Amino acid sequence: MIVYNDRGSLSKALLPFRLHKKIGLIPTMGALHNGHLALVKQALEDNDCVVVSIFVNPTQFDKEADLIKYPRNLNLDVNLLATLEGTILIYAPEAIQLYHGNISSNNYSFGNIENEMEGKYRKGHFDGVGTVVNLLLRDVEPNSAYFGEKDFQQLQIVRKLVEIEKLAVEIVGCPIVREESGLAMSSRNKRLSAVQLEAATLINKTLLEVQQKFQHLSISKCNALVEERFLKNNHLTLEYFEVANVKTLKTAKHKFSNKDYRAFIAVFAGQVRLIDNIALN
Ligand code: PAF
Repeated sequence: MIVYNDRGSLSKALLPFRLHKKIGLIPTMGALHNGHLALVKQALEDNDCVVVSIFVNPTQFDKEADLIKYPRNLNLDVNLLATLEGTILIYAPEAIQLYHGNISSNNYSFGNIENEMEGKYRKGHFDGVGTVVNLLLRDVEPNSAYFGEKDFQQLQIVRKLVEIEKLAVEIVGCPIVREESGLAMSSRNKRLSAVQLEAATLINKTLLEVQQKFQHLSISKCNALVEERFLKNNHLTLEYFEVANVKTLKTAKHKFSNKDYRAFIAVFAGQVRLIDNIALN
C-alpha cells in the first residue's frame, strides 16, 4: 500500500480513475479503528478507488495539549488498511504543503450551526475543520466523501461547506460504530484507562435511556435525568448535554411533534474528551 505525501504524486496516481471511474475520500486524523474501517468499506463498495487521508490537523485544536497528545502511528494505520480488499491510496501530506505555506483557518459562516454545542466549547474548531476538509477535497477531487455520524455536527458543517465552496462532491454520512459495551468508537478511546473505559459506557447507556423516555419526558426533565446520572459518577464529568433540532442544531427547550430531535453529549474522562449523540424521534 502506497503512502502519498504530496498532492502531485497523489494526482498522478488518481489519473487512471478520473474518467469513467469513481473516487471516494475518507478524511481522517489517523489512529484508525473499526469506525474508520466501516467508512472505508462503505466507500470501497461505492467507488473504484478510495483515498484515506491521514493528517492531524493543527488548526482544529483549541488546546495545544490535545494536539500534542493526539495518538499518531502511521505504520499501524497502514497495516490496518492493508487488511481490506480493494484499491486504497493513503494521502498523508505535510501541514505546510497541504496548507500551501500558510497554516491558518478561513473564517466560515455555516449558517450559525458552527456556534452551537461543539462550536461553543471549542472556539475556532469548525473553521479549522472546514479549512482542512476544503483543502483535502480540492487535492483529491473525489466523487464522494464519507463522514461518521459520531461527529454529527461536523457532518452538517461539511454539508454546508460544500455548498459554500461550490464543490461537486457527494457527502455521505455513516452510522456510529460502537464497541460491544456501547461506547462510540473514537481514536481518543486509546487514551482511556481500564477504569475510565468501563465508566465511559455510561455515555451511551444514558443516551439510550433518554431515547427510550423521550416521548413521555419534557426536555427539561431529560436534561435533569442526564445531569443526575453523571453527578453520581466519580470518573466522568459532564461538559454538556443538549437536545437539539436536527436541522438547525439549536438547543430545543420544548418539543414540537413536527420536528426531529437528536441528543448530543460531551463528557470528560480525566483529560480525555468524549462525544456521542443519538436520534430521539
Ligand atoms: O473527524 C476527523 O477526524 C477530523 O475532524 C477530520 C474530518 C479528518 C478533519 O481533520
